[in-house]
Amino acid sequence: MSTLKPSAGFSFVCALGLLLVCQVLSAEEATYVGEKTCIACHNQENRHFSSTLHSKVFRLNPKNEREKKVCEACHGPGSLHAKNPTDKALLIGFTKGWGTAIETQNGQCMGCHKGGSQLHWPGSIHADSKLGCADCHNPMEKNSVSGLLTKSNVNDTCATCHQQQRAEFNKRSHMPLPEGKMSCVDCHNPHGSATKPLLKAESTNVVCYACHAEKRGPFLWEHAPVRENCTNCHAVHGSNHDKLLVAARPYLCQQCHNLSVGHSGAFFRADQTAAAGQLPGGASSQRLPGRACQNCHTQIHGSNHPAGARFQR
Ligand code: HEC
Ligand code: HEC
Ligand code: HEC
Ligand code: HEC
Ligand code: HEC
Ligand code: HEC
Ligand code: HEC
Ligand code: HEC
Ligand code: HEC
Ligand code: HEC
Repeated sequence: MSTLKPSAGFSFVCALGLLLVCQVLSAEEATYVGEKTCIACHNQENRHFSSTLHSKVFRLNPKNEREKKVCEACHGPGSLHAKNPTDKALLIGFTKGWGTAIETQNGQCMGCHKGGSQLHWPGSIHADSKLGCADCHNPMEKNSVSGLLTKSNVNDTCATCHQQQRAEFNKRSHMPLPEGKMSCVDCHNPHGSATKPLLKAESTNVVCYACHAEKRGPFLWEHAPVRENCTNCHAVHGSNHDKLLVAARPYLCQQCHNLSVGHSGAFFRADQTAAAGQLPGGASSQRLPGRACQNCHTQIHGSNHPAGARFQR
């Protein structure tokens, strides 16, 4: 053994099947061959790729040396792969079957997409769950109007994994996401965020104010649970109760307000606020059909009327 020359020792190690060592050593030797070489064998992939923004920028208006590498800007230097295409260790691939480590894959993309909306990617729940950029993006073809997504739109892309949340939007009351008027990324940043769960703003309420500005206040008379969190009363992805409410009225209100205390007179006794069949004889209270407590307490999100302390105006 000790008489062997270094090069012979190298092949000996390879012959022993210590593949990892050989692959690391040989990967270091790979050099850039240029896109023409790649396209010679990957004509079909190139035709799809040519309709993407990356293709246009890298080919027509490259900003730096890396962008000029086109295919190899993402897949890494390809000389060894071109010689030995079936050895999966010789090139960075982004499909499950190819087996390149997720960190290596994402590192390629992050080399150019570190800041901006990707700022919070490291440590985000998607990164920690070992998602690859390629779980949501397919840069090899233009499937979506923008964002190079794996599916034709954001909602379908998210639904490949989050079927439950997508299904909640089919409930009777929902914001117009199934109708295509909004998407998961109106509220979430899939690349990570300082606010759980991947919210786009510093709190749930600030997310909501972006479209429901009239709920922001400030109000002369604030309703504490509204200020605290809209989700105290609303199920954001959808609900079978009216107006995305987490419970039917008046039960919603009664979860926090014990009507035996403070509310004046028999009018507001708990047995009379129940929806149906709870009065003597099985009748429902005349005073609380439909909007229940809000027949009187109309301004439930807060009031600016000098006499609106009880949200009645
Ligand atoms: C001599 C022909 C040839 C050349 C040149 C070539 N490839 Fe390949 N490439 C192949 C073949 C064949 C496969 C399929 C190998 C397999 O599935 O085992 C492949 C597979 C791939 C994959 C597979 C990824 C996956 O996830 O399945 C990528 C990416 C790739 N090539 C990119 C490139 C790039 C980039 C270049 C230029 C640097 C290049 N190829 C040059 C023949 C070639
Ligand atoms: C912006 C980064 C990027 C660039 C540039 C790029 N690729 Fe890819 N490539 C990917 C990703 C990501 C995938 C995995 C797509 C998927 O999940 O199906 C991929 C997949 C592939 C595959 C596997 C088959 C397929 O289509 O999924 C081949 C082959 C390939 N690329 C070749 C090329 C060639 C040739 C070029 C240049 C003409 C190129 N790539 C340019 C990122 C890139
Ligand atoms: C060499 C630098 C570079 C690499 C590597 C790179 N990108 Fe890009 N990417 C760009 C540039 C430049 C643009 C054009 C828009 C811009 O200027 O931000 C872009 C645009 C995009 C867009 C928006 C496209 C659109 O049509 O709206 C997505 C999504 C994207 N990249 C994802 C990826 C993913 C995923 C990877 C890794 C597989 C990747 N990029 C690798 C430079 C790069
Ligand atoms: C969980 C799904 C998901 C993952 C994982 C993901 N993205 Fe995205 N990405 C999206 C969606 C959705 C959009 C928005 C598309 C739109 O608005 O049309 C987007 C947009 C982008 C854009 C273009 C606009 C922007 O916000 O800057 C870039 C660039 C991008 N992603 C890069 C990346 C990179 C790099 C990674 C990996 C580190 C990654 N993405 C991982 C879902 C994802
Ligand atoms: C490839 C699968 C996959 C895709 C696609 C995906 N996610 Fe996720 N997502 C996960 C996993 C895994 C987690 C970790 C928690 C879990 O298991 O639910 C997660 C977590 C989340 C969380 C945080 C949940 C929490 O409890 O903190 C949000 C929010 C989220 N994803 C939104 C999105 C959005 C929006 C999209 C589309 C742009 C998307 N995801 C696409 C796999 C995916
Ligand atoms: C109107 C804003 C909004 C939209 C649109 C939205 N979400 Fe959410 N999402 C939230 C808020 C707020 C929470 C936190 C809920 C809580 O704290 O009760 C959340 C929570 C989540 C969670 C954590 C688990 C859970 O169900 O509470 C996941 C996963 C998630 N959303 C995925 C999605 C996906 C996928 C879509 C698109 C189909 C989507 N969201 C659309 C605002 C939104
Ligand atoms: C991207 C814009 C957008 C954001 C962000 C948003 N909404 Fe909405 N919301 C809408 C639209 C559009 C409607 C439907 C309005 C209509 O039909 O008049 C709606 C309707 C509603 C409704 C009434 C539903 C019904 O059945 O009439 C409630 C309640 C609601 N949103 C609560 C919230 C909450 C809570 C948040 C924050 C987690 C939020 N929204 C964030 C756009 C948004
Ligand atoms: C204390 C419970 C409660 C909280 C907390 C709450 N809401 Fe509501 N919200 C309701 C009720 C009850 C309705 C039905 C009102 C009606 O029919 O007049 C409603 C209706 C709505 C509607 C549709 C009707 C309208 O007034 O435009 C929107 C939008 C809405 N809420 C947004 C929000 C937002 C945004 C937040 C957080 C800032 C929030 N809600 C917090 C109880 C609540
Ligand atoms: C998540 C708990 C919660 C829910 C649900 C809730 N509230 Fe409140 N509400 C409060 C809190 C906390 C206060 C502030 C009490 C205080 O200042 O003493 C309050 C205050 C009020 C007040 C003013 C009382 C006062 O003493 O000034 C009225 C009226 C009221 N709520 C009505 C309602 C109605 C009607 C509903 C149903 C649509 C409702 N609330 C749902 C928690 C809730
Ligand atoms: C018919 C009109 C009406 C209906 C219906 C009604 N309220 Fe009231 N509520 C009032 C009036 C008037 C006051 C003020 C009483 C006072 O100042 O003594 C009040 C006061 C309150 C207060 C403040 C009590 C306090 O200690 O100051 C709360 C909380 C409240 N209502 C909750 C509810 C809830 C919850 C419902 C539904 C289950 C409801 N109300 C139904 C008229 C109504």
